[in-house]
Amino acid sequence: MKVYLDNSSTSYPKPKSVQSAMDGWFHRDFGNANRSNGKSTFEIERLIFETRLRIARFFNFDFPDHVVFTKSVTESMNLFLLGFLNHGDHVLVTELEHNAILRPLEHLKIKRNISYDIMPISENGTFDFVKAKKLITSQTKLVIANHASNVSGDIIDITAIGDFAKKNKLRFLVDAAQSAGILPLDMKQSKIDILGFTGHKGLMGPTGIGGFLISPELVLEVEPLIFGGTGSYSDLLSIPKSMPDIFEAGTLNTLGIIGLNEGILTVESVGIDRILEHEQQLITTLQNAFKEDSRVRIIGNPNPMKRVGILSLDFLTCDNSLIAHELSKTYEISTRVGLHCAPFTHRAYGTFPKGTVRFSTSFLNTYEEIYYTIDAIKRTISNS
Ligand SMILES: Cc1ncc(COP(=O)(O)O)c(C=O)c1O
Repeated sequence: MKVYLDNSSTSYPKPKSVQSAMDGWFHRDFGNANRSNGKSTFEIERLIFETRLRIARFFNFDFPDHVVFTKSVTESMNLFLLGFLNHGDHVLVTELEHNAILRPLEHLKIKRNISYDIMPISENGTFDFVKAKKLITSQTKLVIANHASNVSGDIIDITAIGDFAKKNKLRFLVDAAQSAGILPLDMKQSKIDILGFTGHKGLMGPTGIGGFLISPELVLEVEPLIFGGTGSYSDLLSIPKSMPDIFEAGTLNTLGIIGLNEGILTVESVGIDRILEHEQQLITTLQNAFKEDSRVRIIGNPNPMKRVGILSLDFLTCDNSLIAHELSKTYEISTRVGLHCAPFTHRAYGTFPKGTVRFSTSFLNTYEEIYYTIDAIKRTISNS
């Protein structure tokens, strides 16, 4: 039996509707959106706009023309951070940030002398906003939060952070890589100025498509990073200021957008509540099999209801890589092992530099797969 438990890296399988919509693209009349003339091109343009509308509605955001397509959340975060942060600026981040955030910040630390601090956590595990406030300086511009940790699945209270950011007149960025399509996400309620998403994880689309949603106020403070043709205002030598063209020079990933549109449609028809409940129940079943096992340490919040569908395990009596290798080789179970692109997070959980074996679900995983995985892990640790 083949079991795919690496959905936090990229979801698999993709829904049939995503596959057939993308396949259909090759069989239809062609044209390049905003460039070619012809009925088929207008149809593609309509589909692209429909996808912007769907994404805006999905995250409760009022401005579909401020939904920008990129290739991934990584590209989105780079475009924004490099276009927004200037010499000497200061940023607050959580300790759960991914390298998609940390590496652009480190780059800007060297190139533009920016600085960043990690928001302190109180003893009960929530953010200590009193201490965080003391870190704010006249140069602080932005607060960044990863909605759900890709290492442990821990869910962050982004609404509390959004309130804190607004009270202190700071912009608020959310990395929704691990939460979009899995957790409810409301940009208005959580006071989010910019949200980065990727299409190939919980949104069930293909790789190579992602984007960001940015408020009309914030966009005025961001310089574009990529310049070129947009199909609009072709008489101008400068990039048009209109949204989303200012951030979308070059031909868009139409095929990716078509797949993403279908992926979100599928998520909407299954329902976020049902998806989260199913993933958490699968993970609870997996976790319960090891919670009394002294050979295994469970990483992150011990309550699986406070996590998305991820279980990260540190095997104490054998090498994590060997466990993952054996699960893959003998049992055909896909996981991810090692450090998951988030060095601060691993330090916080005491798993640096060893890392963990991460099991991550999608709503397409079954209990049968989880029971098979439990049995495979038990056999593997007993034989090691
Ligand atoms: C929290 C988080 N942020 C950012 C990313 C980067 O996503 P992508 O590779 O699609 O840009 C990931 C990917 O795993 C992630 O888990």
